[in-house]
Amino acid sequence: MTELPVPALSLVALIGISGAGKSTFARRHFLPSQVLSSDAFRAMVADDETDQSASAAAFDALHYVAGKRLAAGRLTVIDATHVQEHARSTLVALARAHDVLPVAIVLDLPEEECWSRTEQRPDRSFGRGVLARQSRDLRRTLKRLNREGFRTVHVLRGRDEIEAATIRLQP
Ligand code: GTP
Ligand code: MG
Repeated sequence: MTELPVPALSLVALIGISGAGKSTFARRHFLPSQVLSSDAFRAMVADDETDQSASAAAFDALHYVAGKRLAAGRLTVIDATHVQEHARSTLVALARAHDVLPVAIVLDLPEEECWSRTEQRPDRSFGRGVLARQSRDLRRTLKRLNREGFRTVHVLRGRDEIEAATIRLQP
């Protein structure tokens, strides 16, 4: 078992390609109300959690709610892929604006394994190329998370490490 220390007042970015297990991890370790997922916000604004054309509106709404939570001093977890730097930099800026610590938890699972999971899922229909692109984006920036401003960076590699991890909130 690996305990991941996470400051009780922080903005946690889950980072990982589709199928890496972000939503599952969020469900296991955090309260439903602490987790803001891009899928849920796409559904809220567009009736379809996979509608990528709704992403801008969905993230706008998500960041608004995250800001309200952080202003009230509530731990907030963002469940989105966050494989691109610009997606993460928004979160770092939001955390800074509210004087809370940005935390990155990376779920780094081999692309092959994510793909075989994705193929089983009724709620995902994108092609292999999408996953390959996400994987490339993630690889490119994985080492730079500290420099981007994340104060705590936890990287979980492989299914065993992901399944064995627990979160320890620090006062
Ligand atoms: P996107 O929302 O598409 O970005 O994916 P995600 O990262 O949220 O993955 P999700 O948590 O939905 O998991 C994808 C699939 O992998 C699901 O069918 C899960 O049942 C399975 N899965 C997720 N985490 C684990 C895990 O820790 N162990 C095992 N065995 N399966 C997992
Ligand atoms: Mg998910």
